[in-house]
Amino acid sequence: TQSKLELIRNSIITIPNYPKQGILFRDITSLLEDPIAFRTSIDLLIEHYKDKKIDKVVGTEARGFIFAAPLALALGVGFVPVRKPNKLPRHVFREEYQLEYGTDTLEMHCDAIKPNERVLIIDDLLATGGTVAATAKLIQKAGGIAEDAAFVINLPDLQGKTKLTAMGINCYTLVD
Ligand code: PRP
Ligand code: HPA
Repeated sequence: TQSKLELIRNSIITIPNYPKQGILFRDITSLLEDPIAFRTSIDLLIEHYKDKKIDKVVGTEARGFIFAAPLALALGVGFVPVRKPNKLPRHVFREEYQLEYGTDTLEMHCDAIKPNERVLIIDDLLATGGTVAATAKLIQKAGGIAEDAAFVINLPDLQGKTKLTAMGINCYTLVD
């Protein structure tokens, strides 16, 4: 596993000063372009969750979709997209969350999660945890259980893991 994690780490390019001065941007597009790194990241997630009795995989727009959909297929469960506002055509639950400046909104179809379903949330990267905290609230509004969340990349300085763990969400991350 250690060498697999190194392969994933080495496939992620870091761009200084994007999108703002002083930010080190961890870019997953270089991982996705490398078929072995992409396959390995999905395989590690499958290995971790295959016996955990997950009922649904929820992915967050946009980069979360890339990892959530192949994982849902491999686990043999449904995939549910959580989207930016006004993209989903049926009745939605809506959740606002704080950004560094201002707020953002996420939506999920009300009937996408059934009561008591055990839900795994997938995103590419964990920063402050705001996106996945809002996603967990959407799942709870539908009556589901937001027990687990997984990410390819964790930015430990931003302490998202602490925030999500305090909400009762188990976090699995591949590389810091
Ligand atoms: C990025 C990233 C995560 C989120 C992490 O998405 O893909 O979803 O930010 O930050 P947080 O832990 O502080 O919430 P972004 O909102 O840039 O959207 P995108 O995937 O559509 O590019
Ligand atoms: N990379 C990609 N997405 C992000 C980052 C990053 O470093 N920080 C917050 N969202």
